[in-house]
Amino acid sequence: MAHDLEKAKQDFLAKLAPLTKEAEILNLKSEFVGKTGVVSEMLKSLKDMNPEERKTFGPRANELKDFINDQCNLQLSKIEVEEINKKLAEDRIDISLTDNIQVKTTKGGGFHPRTIIQQEIEDIFLSMGFDVLDGPHIEDEFHNFEALNIPADHPARDMQDTFWFHDPHTTPADTKKYLLRTHTSNIQVRGMLSRKPPFRFIAPGVVFRSERTDASHEMVFTQLEGMMVGKDISVANLIYFMKTILKEIFKKDVEVRLRPGFFPFVEPGFELDIRCLICSGAGCSVCKQIGWVELLPCGMIHPNVLKAGGIDPNEYNGFAFGLGLDRLVMMRYGIDDIRHLQSGDLRFNSQFKLF
Ligand code: PHE
Repeated sequence: MAHDLEKAKQDFLAKLAPLTKEAEILNLKSEFVGKTGVVSEMLKSLKDMNPEERKTFGPRANELKDFINDQCNLQLSKIEVEEINKKLAEDRIDISLTDNIQVKTTKGGGFHPRTIIQQEIEDIFLSMGFDVLDGPHIEDEFHNFEALNIPADHPARDMQDTFWFHDPHTTPADTKKYLLRTHTSNIQVRGMLSRKPPFRFIAPGVVFRSERTDASHEMVFTQLEGMMVGKDISVANLIYFMKTILKEIFKKDVEVRLRPGFFPFVEPGFELDIRCLICSGAGCSVCKQIGWVELLPCGMIHPNVLKAGGIDPNEYNGFAFGLGLDRLVMMRYGIDDIRHLQSGDLRFNSQFKLF
């Protein structure tokens, strides 16, 4: 009997050695220690043995049974570990990037040239003690015209072809009319009404005019309003600020000229022109062949405007200006048609770098 046990053991080990699959091992296990397995059958025959034989053979047969179970389980867990490792190796994601792989990089966004200039100008004015204000695009007649010394029948209203809102709910008694602001000067009024002098602020933003478009005119364009109110402010102060800002923007001295200009809200009023930087004064479509570009209407604030803004003109005075931001952008980047700015063409928009 002992011989049978040893033979069964060797037999089992020989059969186990080449097995690599879970199913094969499970089969082998049942072949030896399953219900009708070799070793199980031997254990069953214990009952036919005499007590002496049973005593020696019993424990040894059980030992073999445990041995076979252990061996099989050991092999099974080995296979399991191998399978896990294999899966881990196969499913491994290589997150490293090797030099020889060409990677398509996405293009970074860029700022619209108007944004670049606007931020730059804001920074320059902030450093000179100005606040930066914002105001509504949809405005009423009072803030866009009346408070700026342009009453209803004033011919100056024709200077700015206006987009009016037709309000079907307006009754004849309600004369308050709304419009798309024709200039950023509406923020002059709002700025004055919301602060006490002395103060200085700028207000950049889009404005709207019902105009025919060409290389230098758009229906929607941008201005940058400025206002400084205090005591004993002079035209010399105005010129100083204007020249300083242009020098900062163009990083060089720009040739300027001052002409008298009429705006109902300033007295005296000026047109500040700069020598056309597109054609250097030779004449082009941007400067309408005259070599100069109207860039900066400005002047000393009219007393009526100060009054409408709740400021005593006998005590305070000041200057105001309305910088044409789009023209400035065109001058600095050499853009020969204002319509490019509004085109939304990414090929145009993405080519501008900060200076
Ligand atoms: N609001 C004027 C315009 O749009 C510009 C301006 C502003 C002129 C301030 C003088 C002072 O034409």
